[in-house]
Amino acid sequence: MKNKYFYINTIGCQMNVYDSDNIASSLVSLGYNKTDSYESADLIIINTCTIREKAKEKAFSFIGRLNKLKKKNPDLIIGVGGCVAQQEKEKIFTRMPHVNFVFGTHTISNLPDIIKKVKSGKNKIIDVQFTSNIHENSNFTNFVPEQAVSKFITIMRGCENYCTYCVVPSVRGKEISRKPDAILKEINYLVNSGVKEITLLGQNVNSYGKKENLCSFPRLLSMVNDISKLKRIRFTTSHPKDLTEGLVASFNLLDKLCNHIHLPVQSGSNKILKKMNRKYTVENYLNKIDNLRRVCPDIAISSDIIVGFPGESISDFNETTALIKEVEFDGLFVFGYSDRQNTQASSFPDKLPEKEKNRRLNTLLDIQEKYSRKKNSALINSVQHVLIEGLSKKQKTAKSSNGFLQWTGRTSSNKIVNFEVKNNIKFNDCYKVGNIVEIKIEKAFNNSLKGVPLHR
Ligand code: 5AD
Ligand code: SF4
Repeated sequence: MKNKYFYINTIGCQMNVYDSDNIASSLVSLGYNKTDSYESADLIIINTCTIREKAKEKAFSFIGRLNKLKKKNPDLIIGVGGCVAQQEKEKIFTRMPHVNFVFGTHTISNLPDIIKKVKSGKNKIIDVQFTSNIHENSNFTNFVPEQAVSKFITIMRGCENYCTYCVVPSVRGKEISRKPDAILKEINYLVNSGVKEITLLGQNVNSYGKKENLCSFPRLLSMVNDISKLKRIRFTTSHPKDLTEGLVASFNLLDKLCNHIHLPVQSGSNKILKKMNRKYTVENYLNKIDNLRRVCPDIAISSDIIVGFPGESISDFNETTALIKEVEFDGLFVFGYSDRQNTQASSFPDKLPEKEKNRRLNTLLDIQEKYSRKKNSALINSVQHVLIEGLSKKQKTAKSSNGFLQWTGRTSSNKIVNFEVKNNIKFNDCYKVGNIVEIKIEKAFNNSLKGVPLHR
């Protein structure tokens, strides 16, 4: 029998990357093999995101392009999942009639049944029910990630914070936490297949286990820290209103927890934070930053900011600028406010023109560039522990001309480091994917560092 191939296009957040791994393991259990070229696939899944309009349009534009392929090969199966699917439901078939099935953020475990139905001739299947419990994927052992050093793992789904701009509560549903046993089992499996670093994912990891009365998030971190072959732990995202002293203390207590936290502030104006329903003030946020830096002086802090929220005046925006200058983040993601269906903010007055949102976005990026460079430059001459992720982008496309190989990896503070090592037997055992090596930093750029191995 001819081999069958699947291709998954993952758009959006890390949560979708994790979901796509689960989708892949389901498809492997059905006898499909992975391909990196969608043109040669028999089954194509688009795992979508609708956090901003751009992500949604990216999904539709890809699905639109598949029409041509489907005309050439009517047996091609196309499925749409993720947040756009959850939001648009059957409307996807109206806009994209060549799609065979639509599945939601809670129905990934139904995929084998859905695909069997499509194969038996059923079309336009829709399965977007919300469930109140998490179906554990018993198939995860089917899919061993190729040379993956670092993997994401979802520990909880959904969100009940209802920030007024955010579509997540409506497309991902109520908060549900996975049981610690299931999480630890999955991490153990990944570690035994070569993974060295895991990132625990949740919309607000600090609420982990609260509803179900499981353990606290710091306790879960401590159990993960005990997995002997695991080298590094990261997590995202932590809501500033819930950043507890227990979690801050974990940065000191747990040797594998990396010294980086992503703590989205969204705005530097108390008026706007209130309208966003963020439930903290700028003063509370700065206090948390002080606590983090007191407990872990070299912690790297990154954040998200939305510019041009409805009603954001120039003076509100200037307050955001002032906050960025005060905190000096290591990295910053800046987004122009995007109106989303079924969110409170979509009906707020005083929307800003795109041009002004872009102007504010670029102003913040310009300011941040200086701080990213400053934080990176502060590491020059320091020795960093770098987890090697692979050959650098440059090295992958060019043959080594000088007998050296350029590798890339990350520091515990999540900074990218490139370095060169002589390509010979003596070094190849030490400098390989998955090893943590000592690198002396020599150069700093805006988004990366360059260094030399300490032991040469
Ligand atoms: N418009 C712009 N940015 C948004 N984000 C979430 N919703 C919106 C929206 N409607 C940003 C927030 C969040 C990040 C993941 O995406 O900054 O932290
Ligand atoms: Fe969206 Fe707010 Fe929940 Fe984050 S905490 S997912 S921004 S509603």
